[in-house]
Amino acid sequence: MRGPSQDRRLVVMRRRSLLTLAVLTGAAAACAPTGSTEMRRPRAENRLRIPPLRDPRPGADGVRRFPLTLRTGHTEFLTGKPAETWGINGSYLGPTLRMRRGDLVAMDVRNQLPQPSTLHWHGMRLPARMDGGPHQTIATGGTWSPQWRVDQPAATLWYHPHPHGETADHVWRGLAGMIIIADDAGLPARYGHDDIPLVIQDRVIGDDGEMEHDKRPTFGLMGDDILVNGTLGAQLEVYTTLVRFRLLNGSNARVYHLGFADGREFHVVAGDAGLLTAPAATARITLSPGERAEIVVAFAPGEPAVLRGFAGDDDVDDGNHQILRISAAADLSRSPALPDRLPGAGPVAVPAGARVRRFKLSGHDEINDREMDMNRVDEVVPAGAREIWEVRNAVYAHNFHIHGVDFTVLDVDGTPPPAWQAGRKDTVYLPPKKTARLAVEFDRHTDAATPYMYHCHILRHEDDGMMGQFTVVPPGTESWAPRTVSHAGHHR
Ligand code: C2O
Ligand code: CU
Ligand code: CU
Repeated sequence: MRGPSQDRRLVVMRRRSLLTLAVLTGAAAACAPTGSTEMRRPRAENRLRIPPLRDPRPGADGVRRFPLTLRTGHTEFLTGKPAETWGINGSYLGPTLRMRRGDLVAMDVRNQLPQPSTLHWHGMRLPARMDGGPHQTIATGGTWSPQWRVDQPAATLWYHPHPHGETADHVWRGLAGMIIIADDAGLPARYGHDDIPLVIQDRVIGDDGEMEHDKRPTFGLMGDDILVNGTLGAQLEVYTTLVRFRLLNGSNARVYHLGFADGREFHVVAGDAGLLTAPAATARITLSPGERAEIVVAFAPGEPAVLRGFAGDDDVDDGNHQILRISAAADLSRSPALPDRLPGAGPVAVPAGARVRRFKLSGHDEINDREMDMNRVDEVVPAGAREIWEVRNAVYAHNFHIHGVDFTVLDVDGTPPPAWQAGRKDTVYLPPKKTARLAVEFDRHTDAATPYMYHCHILRHEDDGMMGQFTVVPPGTESWAPRTVSHAGHHR
């Protein structure tokens, strides 16, 4: 006998594959669900889990060390029904790593998984050898210990595996965590109290409690079980009049249009790569996989609120999901007022005559008509360059992430982004058939032998080959920089 929720799942899965078909035949718009904004309620309610915070003091050598072990484990998304999951220092997800600009940090990454993996610091500006991309493989039983100095503005970043062709599977199983580069901007900053991490992921969890896995084409599996920090049906009590939420879309493919059920406004204070120059009021934000936003929300004593998803207009965002149910305590302590100005870096200024590079995303696996090749360097960029990258999406929904840079969005199909999206970023959503122009600022770290990646962050697409590689080299050396990658950089 099938339970009601299993029936619902089957219906959802059937509709998903119809939609996938529709996309493949170019009929997505005609078949997309329309109208309904009725919220899907979770199958259970649980107190929001807050990932443990790691903020180590420096050792005698001045280095702050973060031990991180990739391991297998069991997680009860449904009480009493453990699922097999993967996690970092735990059974699902990993600790939040907090650091400050100027810190010398070292990661000690141990791989106790049955498969090789990597750990990538998404949004971190660091030397390519420390980036944790597909060239920095950690064998089963191996350890990798990258070290760098944090030298970028305060931001919410994240970390996740990046093994060639296996990223979707490793992230789906639970390998991801948040990184906070702390600020001094007068915003709520007490972790887990008025500064709350929200890692949002969709999954399919069976009635037996196990996560469903698949290798299905196009977008991979998308689910209607929303996990926040690994909690199914997350609920949270808040105790202050202002609360900062650090939102991360940690999903493999789903795009979220987020807002509150009562339509209230809130302030966006930061995008992917750091603070805005002023808080931006809005009632709705869109986050595609890998994107982050920090928002500050005001609460009245005793009031309830629901953070939810709203339906969009293509195949990866049809979710009217409840994300987080919030209740404000009867007595709230008064937060300092939201600052009028924020110390954000402002837009990337591209010089006149800046180099323009063009990228076309097509199918589910190609950029500029080629699949990813681990041995090929697609682009060579001079250190410190500011360029315009024009990314054209020829088909259905994609997004675009560049390692080791900040960018600001100049426009999408000629329209500049709204204020809340105008800050520095490292990942941008590309709705079907749209073109984004990005003002990109490259870092100063050079290494002609080790590439960084750019790719679609819909993880099935990345795995299928919608990814390219670039090196950053000393200015003037571009023309003789190697165009192939020699594989010396592997770790055991
Ligand atoms: Cu979030 Cu190439 O990664
Ligand atoms: Cu990245
Ligand atoms: Cu894609």
